[in-house]
Amino acid sequence: MCVQGTPPIEELREWQRAVRAQFPIITGHPEHAYLDSAATAQKPQAVLDCVQTYLTTTNANAGRGTYPWANRTTALVEQTRDRVRRFLDDPAPEQSAVHFTSGTTEGLRTIARDWLPLLLTDGDEIVVPLADHQANIAPWQEVQQELSRRGTHVRLLPMPYQQSSGDYDHIALADLAGPRTRFVAVTHVHHVYGGNMNVHRIREAVGPDAVICLDAAQSIGHLPVSVTELDADFVVFSGHKAMALPGSGAVWARQTRGPAFTPGGWPGTPNTVGIASLAAALDWLDAAGTDRIERWTVALAARLTEGLRHLEAYEVLGCRNSLAADSPVQQREGIVTFRHRDIDSGDLGFILFSHGFMVRSDNHCQGSAGERTGSVRVSLHVYNTVEEVDQLLTALHTLG
Ligand code: ALA
Repeated sequence: MCVQGTPPIEELREWQRAVRAQFPIITGHPEHAYLDSAATAQKPQAVLDCVQTYLTTTNANAGRGTYPWANRTTALVEQTRDRVRRFLDDPAPEQSAVHFTSGTTEGLRTIARDWLPLLLTDGDEIVVPLADHQANIAPWQEVQQELSRRGTHVRLLPMPYQQSSGDYDHIALADLAGPRTRFVAVTHVHHVYGGNMNVHRIREAVGPDAVICLDAAQSIGHLPVSVTELDADFVVFSGHKAMALPGSGAVWARQTRGPAFTPGGWPGTPNTVGIASLAAALDWLDAAGTDRIERWTVALAARLTEGLRHLEAYEVLGCRNSLAADSPVQQREGIVTFRHRDIDSGDLGFILFSHGFMVRSDNHCQGSAGERTGSVRVSLHVYNTVEEVDQLLTALHTLG
């Protein structure tokens, strides 16, 4: 396969080589290409070192003891809240709250369970993106059902999508949203189509008062995420997809629309080592530069999409034109999902692994308005190379 190089790839090659060298699991397994970073990202040496150092020098519980290890752990947890705020370009850190969770799924569920019932009254409406990840659908459906049992009836409005691009239909959303639309759940980067969902346009569509809740599972660590630019009220993400340990994650809450976000229940011991790893991962990502990470992964995804365009047996999901690298409508981030005309996607996943490629192949937990049949998803990160993409295209080509 011969696919033309794109300028960002040439410009970033040296930088990428140095960055890739910091991932021991990647450099230690040259026989494999890890192409499943939307499921979980690999960890750089700096995060591994931080975990080792924390556990061998400081490990204690937070918010309880008064001896130095406990004090240092308590401080670490508080400092990591500030680190999350800075990472998200928080314009008013003194007002916002950061709550640690086990990941995006628990974060969204916590908002639904502990906060949304305080906001909603009889006759209110919530917008739910039914073609996005189940984790950003089920909690809102459940809260609607729970409120209904308690006699509060809330209408669930399905988010409108553009048939042509898979992006949200901001014009239809503006028509749909009215004064009773209090809460809008959106996704930053689609976990199947890889589209950047243009959430900066949502505020204009829903007006100044509706609460916008952003599932940033596939954007944190992959591109700059600025709550100043997006005007979202909640940002929810998983640490493990942002190069921290599994079981870590956060909800950032702006706290200026609706009641204060104060998750209920006795929280128990926080995941201190996960929180330590999250601080190290955010430091690492800022030093590497999320803008450069985005340019690299977008260039690789464009190369893969372009290569697949020449292979007749494959159908790339999502709109080919609007998701092209130079599209003024919608950009594809580092996720490319496709099907083979004759080979079952599960089988294709096994075949690709026999060639050394690790991909995800199923329906990717997409909601009811999503794809009906399975597909293979390639999700890229900064440690992936041009050579891996070209070798994947060659392997796909041999399957006809
Ligand atoms: N939600 C993760 C994914 O899309 C696990 O693969």
